[in-house]
Amino acid sequence: MYSFARNLLFKFNPETSHDLALDWLGAAERLKLLPLFSQKIAPKPVEVMGITFPNPVGLAAGLDKNGDYFNALGQLGFGFIEIGTITPKAQPGNPKPRMFRLEEHQAIINRMGFNNKGVDYLADQVRNKRYQGVLGINIGKNKDTPEDKALDDYIACMDAVYPLADYITVNISSPNTPGLRDLQFGESLSALVKGVKAHQHILAEQHQKIVPIAVKIAPDMTDEEIVDVADTLLEASIDAIIATNTTVNRDDIAGHTHQNEAGGLSGKPVCDQSTHVIRVLNTHLKGAIPIIGVGGILNGGDAQEKIAAGASLVQLYSGFIYEGPALIKACSDAITV
Ligand SMILES: Cc1cc2nc3c(=O)[nH]c(=O)nc-3n(C[C@H](O)[C@H](O)[C@H](O)COP(=O)(O)O)c2cc1C
Repeated sequence: MYSFARNLLFKFNPETSHDLALDWLGAAERLKLLPLFSQKIAPKPVEVMGITFPNPVGLAAGLDKNGDYFNALGQLGFGFIEIGTITPKAQPGNPKPRMFRLEEHQAIINRMGFNNKGVDYLADQVRNKRYQGVLGINIGKNKDTPEDKALDDYIACMDAVYPLADYITVNISSPNTPGLRDLQFGESLSALVKGVKAHQHILAEQHQKIVPIAVKIAPDMTDEEIVDVADTLLEASIDAIIATNTTVNRDDIAGHTHQNEAGGLSGKPVCDQSTHVIRVLNTHLKGAIPIIGVGGILNGGDAQEKIAAGASLVQLYSGFIYEGPALIKACSDAITV
């Protein structure tokens, strides 16, 4: 069924097919047709960050940036859904084309640039939700916000989504917002995560609930840098690490027509690099911070490899585009927790 839909969708350019697929899915949900296509996924509850996830396979950020489709996506069997990245103000993102499919490599290059409708829009979507499952909200900074004011943007987003989220992800690893990845290092990282945690304490008091904070990191780091990041996140008592975002490395797609497109590469070529980051984090942290593994999961074996490397949960994006909802079940079934 999915391969038929995919063959049709892949005839369009990637961004159009992405929008079409989500519109169809949203319509099917509103017409109550999704149960007809639902798959039975055996419950496999996992407790991470104090939250019980019904199964360990989630949807990664970026597919549903504005929270327009998670009521539908939530019916496909995911154990959790992460929406966003959302920024304080709406912004258009980069000029099109900004998404490229590399079918031979089961990969995608994107330079979307946090195109989104702004955090107030997303918060309204979540307030009216029908989805009852675990919801993460991924937050970022606007393109025109200088790096030394980045914390203000994360705090503005936290204020808007804190009462609505099961967990919040601080995204500092998109390669498509100039300067964003610099926030992953040294004093910038330390000041940012301490500021975010201090604000979490204020909001916890205000709302009488603790919403865990995850930080999403890039795969393009040396082992030394990964260890430094881990130490800083540990010192700040960050609640989880999401590893990883897309890569700027092009080694595995050398010679491809799209090799030189700017942006982040995801899918199969990032799989081993992401798993390596998880392994280095886990070897150093020894379970002190839970890890959510993402990057290039195309089958159940890839998902189990992330778990074996030290992840407690996994997320899918590119694999979900290539393999469809059956991948959720394949991964959940393959994972031994
Ligand atoms: C088109 C596209 C848009 C993305 N947008 C975001 C985003 O807004 N925020 C984010 O944290 N990650 C974003 N990502 C990264 C994914 O969440 C994921 O970390 C990455 O693609 C690696 O996983 P994958 O190989 O399974 O795709 C995006 C990825 C793609 C392909």
